[in-house]
Amino acid sequence: MTDKKFIVVAIDGGAASGKSSTSKILSERLDLMYVNTGSHYRSITWAILEGDVDFKNERSIIEVLKTLPIGHLVEGKEARITLNKQPFGEEIRSEAVNNAVSLVAAIPVVRQYLLEHQRSYSNLAKNAGFKGLIMEGRDIGSVIFPNADFRFFLTADEAERARRRQLEGQVDSIQKRDQLDKTRKTAPLTCADGATMIETTHLSLLEVAEKLQAIIQSGKDT
Ligand code: DC
Repeated sequence: MTDKKFIVVAIDGGAASGKSSTSKILSERLDLMYVNTGSHYRSITWAILEGDVDFKNERSIIEVLKTLPIGHLVEGKEARITLNKQPFGEEIRSEAVNNAVSLVAAIPVVRQYLLEHQRSYSNLAKNAGFKGLIMEGRDIGSVIFPNADFRFFLTADEAERARRRQLEGQVDSIQKRDQLDKTRKTAPLTCADGATMIETTHLSLLEVAEKLQAIIQSGKDT
């Protein structure tokens, strides 16, 4: 590991590219606070769908966001978002949320709403005594923590990613979501300049984690 006491690890990639499984393994092994930012967008999407708000109407979205003060809840190594003091569970993995989340994540005011919150996890992890923070998403290495100590971008071919989702029992149009996430104007899904790209199609998730762990422990900044 680097001599620095506290490290920030950014993991980006498309849907079902192995980000969550890999991040959780590394979080356990290296004592890093784990944050899944996809669930931030999913929670907001769920609240918008529940409120029956037209997510194409930015003004209505702002009104909803005003009623949802953001907080966090630390459970074990994971820190989760709360909206109006409420954490979210499996409801944010529903087909309805899968279908709407990329549209909501493309709305600049929603991204703006989450930006400072997501950056604040670094201090949260430091103050809670973790050795670092591992955050996964689509724009962590490009926008949220462009100066992270380690930035990785995971890829896998589409058939393999669809297979992984199926094994999780989820109905999810990953190709459609990736297309929307890549082509939006604000903070699109991209491999940030200088980030390390890892092809995971033929690797088990454990092997991916091992690969990242070796890079982190050799202290080679990306
Ligand atoms: O990681 P996930 O598949 O649960 O993410 C759900 C959606 O949230 C994804 O399709 C795009 C959006 N997202 C984003 O725009 N930026 C992030 N940092 C994380 C997720």
